[in-house]
Amino acid sequence: MRKKILSLLLSVAMVASMMVPAMAEETTEAAEAAAAVDMEGVDVENTKIGISIYKFDDNFMTLYRTELVRYLTEDLGFKEENITVTDGKNDQAEQTNQINNFITAGVNVMILNLVQSSSAPQVTDLCNDAGIPVVYINRQPEEAESNRWADEGIKATYVGADARQSGTYQGEEILETSNGGDINGDGKVSYIMVQGDPENIDAQNRTEYSVKALTDAGVEVEELLLQRGDWDQAKGQQIVQDALTQFGDQIEVVFCNNDAMALGALQAIQAAGRVVNEDIYLVGVDALTDALQNIQDGNMTGTVFNDHIGQSHMAADTAVKFLKGEEVEPVIMVDYIKATADNAADILALLQ
Ligand code: BGC
Repeated sequence: MRKKILSLLLSVAMVASMMVPAMAEETTEAAEAAAAVDMEGVDVENTKIGISIYKFDDNFMTLYRTELVRYLTEDLGFKEENITVTDGKNDQAEQTNQINNFITAGVNVMILNLVQSSSAPQVTDLCNDAGIPVVYINRQPEEAESNRWADEGIKATYVGADARQSGTYQGEEILETSNGGDINGDGKVSYIMVQGDPENIDAQNRTEYSVKALTDAGVEVEELLLQRGDWDQAKGQQIVQDALTQFGDQIEVVFCNNDAMALGALQAIQAAGRVVNEDIYLVGVDALTDALQNIQDGNMTGTVFNDHIGQSHMAADTAVKFLKGEEVEPVIMVDYIKATADNAADILALLQ
């Protein structure tokens, strides 16, 4: 396992030297800290951990939860039989039920990927009343809520990534193309936006900041369509298929809030006979293996690595801090990394 972590660090360092040094260094630091977490005084034999994922049927969260459980057991030494991972089935009532069951079962800490981040106040109170610390992941509760944890000394925190950064990187990837996204040379970039679940701050911020990167650079933009695809590949495909029928060559850029939807978009783009990086640009977020391979093959313009490795390690380490009674910040962010044809191979190596 050491080896795996080392190769991970080296690869991150490689990416760092190529792309965004300051940022990737921080990711490296996060991974280093993760590898070195002090387990002294933690009862790894008996500690019970309750984990609930908003739904199992999500490409990114599947990678995340697999790495989270692997890290908790293989690297930190917790027992598999003491870790319960439940499928929230995209239903908040169902998930709240699971959380109540965790409380009854007497778990020592929870790691929760809420179905609805707006239910954080209620869930936090449930956990706090039962004296169980909670680490929220992936879907960020509102700032007022995380401020409340800090103000009232509630043992709750959010570990995630700042979606404004991923949106900005998507916009920059378009700006960095040979024509800055203006394929037809009419002086403006005409795009469609395939959005994740709009209740989710990641979807809101990626949508806003991808376009903001263009307008901040003084580029004129035209939004042809904005539609929710709920992070889902099949929905992404349908939306882009319909948009291509409606707007045809007017579409110069397809922004997708995640790679699953971008992979769906790519199917629609290819079926319509359009050619990515020649007559249309396509960007996603996450750096799923399929997306990275398509970037290498020239079928996607870029993506942004949503570092599920750094995030899951940080979430687990933070749970350990709670178990040890240490102070924890209310919000902990792990950096994104831009992923284009220049470094797709390095990020693929890191994920292997
Ligand atoms: C990821 C999406 C995922 C969503 C789930 C986002 O951060 O980019 O791929 O579907 O989280 O909440």
